[in-house]
Amino acid sequence: MRRRIGTIWTLDFISAGPAGSSPLLVATAKKFCESRLKLDNFPPRPTNKDVNPFRIRELTTLGDREIEGLSEVLIDCVEGGASVSFMLPFSRAKAEEFWCGLSESVARGERLVYVAENDAGTIVGTVTVILKLPENQPHRADVAKMLVHRSARRMGLGAALLAAAERGAIGAGKTLLVLDTVSDSDGHRLYAGQGWTRCGEIPDYALWPDGRPCAATIFFKSLKP
Ligand SMILES: CC(C)(COP(=O)(O)OP(=O)(O)OC[C@H]1O[C@@H](n2cnc3c(N)ncnc32)[C@H](O)[C@@H]1OP(=O)(O)O)[C@@H](O)C(=O)NCCC(=O)NCCS
Repeated sequence: MRRRIGTIWTLDFISAGPAGSSPLLVATAKKFCESRLKLDNFPPRPTNKDVNPFRIRELTTLGDREIEGLSEVLIDCVEGGASVSFMLPFSRAKAEEFWCGLSESVARGERLVYVAENDAGTIVGTVTVILKLPENQPHRADVAKMLVHRSARRMGLGAALLAAAERGAIGAGKTLLVLDTVSDSDGHRLYAGQGWTRCGEIPDYALWPDGRPCAATIFFKSLKP
């Protein structure tokens, strides 16, 4: 069983450099960034802090507020055409039933749920790490329900949620992550861009919310140091 106080960090980490970076590496990176800033960014672009007032948080319980926010994001994704288990028409009751159904599993530490919240505390994205798998796969976890509200896309939240999921899986002692995603989708590009390995494609794996079949691509990532 795994219990943990919620973990919070912001996207500011992007400008801080990875923990343990050598001073020389940080100074070199800073110099490079400053020279790029002079050459390419005139007038200067807003910093990540300005454009990304979001934080990533692990939920250790799913209360009413969390279920409402998670449902809002799930509904937006399904209505936006994402193939994430559900078909249209997709009701709020069905979305809430889905998240309510996971709350005990989250409380038992069988899965990790991370959310991205904006500065008003509204949930705009989420990802789940399923830790509890058959007993012959104790080292493995699945990544699922990677969802970002359409209003908050292309700002790095998907990548930040994925990084949180990977760190959470490592913290839970996992060394292998697996997922499937619609081929050639935004999710596909996200995982490929974050160092995941593509295994292959399964035709007609699932349905789009409107009923058309879609292929899925299987990805994995080794978390071994
Ligand atoms: C897949 C999904 C989670 C990605 O979320 P996201 O928050 O938009 O992801 P990111 O912002 O990290 O990256 C998305 C793109 O924005 C780009 N981006 C990130 N920050 C950016 C910025 N500040 N300015 C411009 N572009 C940026 C990334 O480079 C990436 O580009 P690419 O798609 O060309 O590779 C989102 O599209 C989604 O919820 N889709 C529907 C649900 C779904 O299909 N989920 C996957 C199920 S497995």
